Amino acid sequence: MTDVLVLYYSRGGKVAQMAHLVAHGIEQVAGVHARIRTVPAVSTVCEQTEPAVPPAGAPYAQLSDLEECAGLALGSPTRFGNMAAPMKYFLDATGILWSRGALAGKPAALFTSTSTLHGGQESTLLTMMIPLLHHGMLVLGLPYTHPSLSTTTSGGTPYGASHFSGPQNDRSISEDEKALCLALGRRLAEVSRKLQR
Ligand SMILES: Cc1cc2nc3c(=O)[nH]c(=O)nc-3n(C[C@H](O)[C@H](O)[C@H](O)COP(=O)(O)O)c2cc1C
Repeated sequence: MTDVLVLYYSRGGKVAQMAHLVAHGIEQVAGVHARIRTVPAVSTVCEQTEPAVPPAGAPYAQLSDLEECAGLALGSPTRFGNMAAPMKYFLDATGILWSRGALAGKPAALFTSTSTLHGGQESTLLTMMIPLLHHGMLVLGLPYTHPSLSTTTSGGTPYGASHFSGPQNDRSISEDEKALCLALGRRLAEVSRKLQR
């Protein structure tokens, strides 16, 4: 069995929904299992530490999850055109893996959500690639051979899957956005399985 890590941060639930769609796409590929993990929130006020296990939803990721999995799908909401601080904070703690080259050669893919249509989906996806490239990961996008990339009127980019959630963060994930989340998961799973062999 090939394990692929779906690692996300989500405050309002949209990126969490996308993570489950990407995971569904991963598990459409025979012999591949999606391991879904999240990261704790960070705050400028540190009155107490987070409990080791979140009260609901996916468990918090450990560095061992990154090391054990054959591929990585990384998802974050857009914050001012970039990934959210909790995901960056988690990635900043992966120096020990970087020094050992533990992620070098593993495939990775990205997904994000924005409240406005031109609010930085591409910049978020592209900047999320940078730490993964430093780790030596092989970054995958979405090919235009997928029809939804041409028909979407909301999210969906060649740099990864995306969702336009609206000013109240309440727009449903469209059929094209869903199809691209699934396609991204499948693509990552297929490459992870091949490279693991
Ligand atoms: C501090 C902050 C910064 C944000 N920056 C942007 C932005 O640059 N562009 C945008 O379109 N949406 C921005 N948003 C909106 C979120 O990216 C959007 O609501 C997203 O769908 C939330 O995902 P979630 O439901 O998984 O938390 C921002 C939200 C917050 C709280």
